[in-house]
Amino acid sequence: MTDALHIHPHASSISPQDRALQKGQQPCCVWLTGLSGSGKSTLANALEKALHAQGIHSFLIDGDTLRSGLNCDLDMSEAGRRENIRRLTEVARLMLDAGLVVIVSAITPFRADREAARQRLGKDALLSVYVSTPLEVCAERDPKGLYRAAREGRIRNFTGIDSPYEPPLDADCAIDTSRVDTEQATAALLEQVLRRCRG
Ligand code: ADX
Repeated sequence: MTDALHIHPHASSISPQDRALQKGQQPCCVWLTGLSGSGKSTLANALEKALHAQGIHSFLIDGDTLRSGLNCDLDMSEAGRRENIRRLTEVARLMLDAGLVVIVSAITPFRADREAARQRLGKDALLSVYVSTPLEVCAERDPKGLYRAAREGRIRNFTGIDSPYEPPLDADCAIDTSRVDTEQATAALLEQVLRRCRG
């Protein structure tokens, strides 16, 4: 496609390695996948705060947040979700090149898209986290009232109700927030991320 459009990506004279070196850290991407209400955003926020306190340069890319700006043209159809994840992946890639530790928090329901993200970001740069809180717990929490709306037919294509979620088979770690509290889970994640980005 880039050939057809006569587009020639510009190589900066400052390399990703230069940028990482200047920040004194090894960039990586923590990608949180899981159902709505599973606790992804809570964990992502807590992790970002903990990284910041450790002097790590990080940035949180949240599915909901990007859908209110860059991705506001996308719906919740399979195609809309796939394009959403493709764009999140591309934004994450730019941020990795900028030398940051990137946290992505998005349902990311399809295995193929998670695999595409892994390929695009590089498997060594990616820490995949399955927030595996069971559907019944997420629906019970229902922090945004969306499960109720989906059950009443006011929202269509709701993940876990009438749109699929394909659980990861190969995540680097799984966290069920109905069993582990945020503090414990964040501490465990922080340790893994620090090992990577200071290694
Ligand atoms: S993804 O499937 O494309 O990865 P993403 O994480 O960006 O989803 O956005 C999900 C958020 O959109 C949820 O947290 C919820 O607040 C909202 N939402 C609105 N409609 C739906 C729906 N049909 N299914 C799931 N989430 C929805």
